[in-house]
Amino acid sequence: MADLEGLAEARDVKTKKVEGGAHFHLRGSAHLDWGMKNRLARIIKPDTGRTVMLAVDHGYFQGPTSGLEVMESTLEPLIPYADCLMLTRGILRSSVPPGAQVPIVLRVSGGNSVLSELSNETWNVSVEDCIRLNVSGMAMSIYVGAPYEHQTLAAFSDLIDAGYEAGIPVLAVTAIGRDMVRDSRYLSLATRMAAEMGANFVKTYYCENFERVTGTCPVPIVMAGGKKLPEIEALTMAHNAVTEGATGVDMGRNIFQSDCPIGMIKAVRAVVHYDEKPQSAIKIYRDEKTASKRGATTAKKPSPSTKKK
Ligand code: 5RP
Repeated sequence: MADLEGLAEARDVKTKKVEGGAHFHLRGSAHLDWGMKNRLARIIKPDTGRTVMLAVDHGYFQGPTSGLEVMESTLEPLIPYADCLMLTRGILRSSVPPGAQVPIVLRVSGGNSVLSELSNETWNVSVEDCIRLNVSGMAMSIYVGAPYEHQTLAAFSDLIDAGYEAGIPVLAVTAIGRDMVRDSRYLSLATRMAAEMGANFVKTYYCENFERVTGTCPVPIVMAGGKKLPEIEALTMAHNAVTEGATGVDMGRNIFQSDCPIGMIKAVRAVVHYDEKPQSAIKIYRDEKTASKRGATTAKKPSPSTKKK
C-alpha cells in the first residue's frame, strides 16, 4: 500500500547541472535503446572500451576441435579471464555453469559442416531461446562472395530485425568462403556491408592495411584470431589490431590451443585492455607457463578500471 507518512518533497535542483546519460563508449551505438546498450556494455567494457571475447564455437561446423574435446575442462580455468564467451547453445547448456558471471554471445547460425559447402549456413536458434538463455548478444556468419551469399545475408537481415525487437545486439561474423582472399579490400567490403545491414558489432580477420577496415566500418570491430600461431605472433597481431582501431578480440585457437591457455589469455588481456606491447605481454604468458609447471599460477585477472594510459 502506498504510504503518505513522512513524504518528503523533492529538493530544488535547478541550479545544478544534470550530467551524464548521453555518452556511450562505442562507435555508432549512441542512439541505441537502453537494453541494447546495457548488453553491449557487458560485452565491451566501458572502462577501457575494449573486450577480450573467448571464441569456443568451432564445434558447430567442425565437431570436436583440438583443445575443445571436453568443454568443461577447457572453459573452467579460462572463464574468469574472459570478458565474454562466444559459443553455441548446446555447449552453453551442457558445459557452462549457470552461476558463471560471464556474458554470452550465442552463435545462432549453423546448418553447414566441414564436409560440405561451408557457406550453406543459416539462422538456426530462435530469439525466444536466446532470451531464455539470458544472452548478451547473438552471432551469425555472413559469407560475402560465396555460393550461399544471398541465403546468409537474407537470414542475417531477419536476425537484425529480431535483435532490435528483443533488444539483443547482433555480432556479424565475416566468414570467408574457400575462394576469398583475406585482404583489406574484401574485409572492408564484408564488414561495411554487415554494418549497413544493421550489425551492432562485427568480427573479422586481421589483415594488412587493417585501418582501412576499421576506419570504414561505423560500428565496433573485434578481431578473430584465426589459425594457431606462435604466441608472440598472436600477441603482435592483437596489438596491431587494437592499435589500428579494433575494439578488442574474439580469439579462440590462439588461446585454447596454446600450451598455456591461462598465460595466453592473461597476456592478450594485457595487450587489449592495457595497451601492453607484445614483447612485455609475452612475459606474462611465459611466467604463467613456468608457474603452472610448478603447480602455481601468477597474477590475478587485472581490473579494466586500472587501464594504463
Ligand atoms: C568461425 C568463428 C569462430 O568463432 C572464430 O573464427 C574462432 O576463433 P579463432 O579463429 O580465433 O579460432 O566465428 O566462423
